[in-house]
Amino acid sequence: MQDGPSTPRKIIIDTDPGQDDAVAILLALASPEEINVLGITAVAGNVPLDLTAKNARIVCELAGRPDIPVFAGCDRPIARTLVTAEHVHGKTGLDGPVLPDPTMPLADQHAVAFLIETLRREPAGTVTLCPLGPLTNIATAFTEAPDIIPRVAEIVLMGGAYFEVGNITPAAEFNIYVDPEAAKAVFAAGAPLVVMPLDVTHKALTTAPHIAGFRALGTHVGDMVAAWTDFFERFDKEKYGSEGAPLHDPCVIAYLLRPELFSGRQINVEIEVDSPLTRGMTVADWWGVTERAPNALFIGDVDADGFFALLTERIGRL
Ligand code: RIB
Ligand code: CA
Repeated sequence: MQDGPSTPRKIIIDTDPGQDDAVAILLALASPEEINVLGITAVAGNVPLDLTAKNARIVCELAGRPDIPVFAGCDRPIARTLVTAEHVHGKTGLDGPVLPDPTMPLADQHAVAFLIETLRREPAGTVTLCPLGPLTNIATAFTEAPDIIPRVAEIVLMGGAYFEVGNITPAAEFNIYVDPEAAKAVFAAGAPLVVMPLDVTHKALTTAPHIAGFRALGTHVGDMVAAWTDFFERFDKEKYGSEGAPLHDPCVIAYLLRPELFSGRQINVEIEVDSPLTRGMTVADWWGVTERAPNALFIGDVDADGFFALLTERIGRL
């Protein structure tokens, strides 16, 4: 439920930038008629918290939006040692182009306090949470203030994998693997949940024509997006032999803008937290073989051309 069909959807982006997080943030900020970004909460994930909090501000300034409040959140998972992904995103988390350090300040409030305060303040059912990294901030907020859970309009997150299997271990996708206890709590919370797993993000590949499309915009932001995707794709092309890198996180924002580009099933998804071998696996009952109640719209497919057309057009607005 939203305030009304014409009012922009209020969202909070929870993120661990990461080049693909950066493109997702840009897509949201390029779409003010449809999306009102109330704030960006940084979490430890791809790189440590000090860098994700810095990178989120770099992206806001790149988009010309130093007014967007950026909050630092949890610097480690609830019950695990932090695992990062510099091997994918580079030491800074935004390797590729060189960008100036941010001048906009970090908000004083802790990200978890911001999440709780905002969800208590805004009318129930009007704020969508868009987690793009490990779910530590979200789970911590839900644990500290369970009263906010029924006030969440929807959670649309990037994480998990089923048919595509894992990318950090054979069984698990990175965001869920880093903090499986947080994921278990969020998937069990009962808020309406849309999941963008590797099953769909691996169909949104930054092939050469798509990267050329970013460059053809002839804008500084378009050039930055092309440079990020150029850097980001080397890992996936080498690992999967694919024709480009999966643009994971922008799928979350694209879903808010054009849900018809995506398709999936309302199914039960549980998170493995006990087995060292399969820690962080999203056990998705895609074929309905259990009696477990459905708790997530698990997305399996995307119109990739439509996705990139939307993304390129919107990036071109910045
Ligand atoms: O597994 C892909 C996810 O992990 C993406 O969100 C990427 O940014 C990293 O956080
Ligand atoms: Ca991410």
